[in-house]
Amino acid sequence: MRTIMNLAQKKRIVLGITGGIAAYKAAELARLLVKQGMEVQVAMTDAATHFITPTTMQALTGQPVLLNQWQDEKGMLHIQSSRAADAIVIAPATADFMAKLAHGLADDLLSTLCLARNCPLLVAPAMNRQMWSNPATQRNVHQLVRDGAVLLGPDDGLQACGEEGMGRMLEAEMLAQYIQAMLGSSTTGHAMQGMHVLMTAGPTYEAIDAVRGITNRSSGKMGYAIAEAAQEMGARVTLVSGPVALKAPVGVQVVAVTSAAEMFEAVKQHVSQADMFIGVAAVADYRVAEPSAQKIKKDGHGLTLQLVQNPDILAYVAGLPEPPFCVGFAAESEKLREYAERKRQSKKLPLLAANLAQQAIGADQNEIILFDDAGEHQLPRADKKTQARELLRHAVSLYQKGKMQ
Ligand code: CTP
Repeated sequence: MRTIMNLAQKKRIVLGITGGIAAYKAAELARLLVKQGMEVQVAMTDAATHFITPTTMQALTGQPVLLNQWQDEKGMLHIQSSRAADAIVIAPATADFMAKLAHGLADDLLSTLCLARNCPLLVAPAMNRQMWSNPATQRNVHQLVRDGAVLLGPDDGLQACGEEGMGRMLEAEMLAQYIQAMLGSSTTGHAMQGMHVLMTAGPTYEAIDAVRGITNRSSGKMGYAIAEAAQEMGARVTLVSGPVALKAPVGVQVVAVTSAAEMFEAVKQHVSQADMFIGVAAVADYRVAEPSAQKIKKDGHGLTLQLVQNPDILAYVAGLPEPPFCVGFAAESEKLREYAERKRQSKKLPLLAANLAQQAIGADQNEIILFDDAGEHQLPRADKKTQARELLRHAVSLYQKGKMQ
C-alpha cells in the first residue's frame, strides 16, 4: 500500500545542467532530490559535459542522461521528457542559457525541452558577478520572471574566479529545500501564477531639512520576505520600497522611494494592473509642512515643526471603485485584537495581519494574527519567510473565494 502511494505521489524532475563550474553542485542536488523520493531525469548541454560527466549523473539518478535531440529515433524526446515532468530545474543556469530561455531559443535538447514544457520552470543562475549584473542578463532575468519562471538565487559570496559578489549558485541543500517546498505542497506550488502583486515595504523618510528627517525603525524584512515568497509562488511582484538596507529579491521589480508622497505616486502608477495590494510599509503618518532646502541652524531657542498628515495609501487603494484584493498590516503596542480589527473595518480590508510592534522591530521571528471576515487566525511562531508563505496562502484562498462569488 505504502509503495503504491509513494509511486502515485512521486514527483518527476528534469534537472537541466548547463556549462558552468557550479555544475559540480548539480551532482549533490541530484542526490538530494533522489533521496527526497523524486525521480530525477538529467539533461545536460554539451558545455556541461566539460564540467561533470554524464556517467556521474547517471550513477546518482539511475537514469541515462539526455544529451542531444538525436538520441531518440522518433525524435520526440523533447516532448516526452518535458510532458512527463512535474518541474524542470536548471541548475546551474549560465548567462548564455538564460538568454536562450528568455528568447525562446531551442537549438539543443535542453532548451527545446524548456520550450516544449507545460510544467513550472525553476532556474538557479550561476555566473561571474559582472555577467550577472550586466544589463543584458538583468533584462533576461526580468523577462524570464514575467514569463512565469521561478528564480532560485543567485547568492552573494566568493566566486570560482576569485571575485566576490552576486552570482554564486545557491547551495544544493537550499535548492533541494526550495524544490521540495514548491512541489511538495499544492497550495504553495504555483498558487499565485498569473497574479500581479503590488506591495509597499520599509519605512518612509520625511525631510525636515537638507540633512535631517523623520523616519521609523521598520527594517523592511517582513515586506521583502512576502515579496520573495509571492515571487516564488508564481506572482509577478512590484515592490514599492522605502529606504532599507536589504537586497532586492531576485525577480521582483523594486521601485525605490523615500517619502510617503513618493510611495503614494508609485502605488498610483502601478495599481491598475494589480490583482492584490499588500501594504506592509510603515508609512509616516505625518510630514513636515515646509521642509527647509538648507540645513536649519540652531539659534538658541526651541524649534516648532508644523506637520501635516500624509495620504493613507492603503485606504486609498481599498477605496478605489474596483480595488485589488487588499491586505493591510498593523503593528500595535497594546490592545492588539481590538485595534487591529478596528483598523481592518475602518480601511475596509478583507484581510489584515497584526503583530506587536515591540516584538516585530528588527526581529527575524515574529508572531502574527490574521483578521478577516471569518474571525482571527493565529500563525505559528516562525521565521518571516515561513510566515510570509502562510499569509499569502490565506490571502490567495480568500482572493479566489471572492472571485467565485
Ligand atoms: N498605511 C498606508 N499609508 C499610510 C499609513 C498606513 O498605506 N499613510 C498602511 C500600512 O502600510 C499598513 C496599515 O496602513 O498596512 C497600517 O495602518 P495605520 O492605521 O496607518 O497604522 P498606524 O500608522 O500604526 O496607525 P495608528 O497610528 O492609528 O495606529
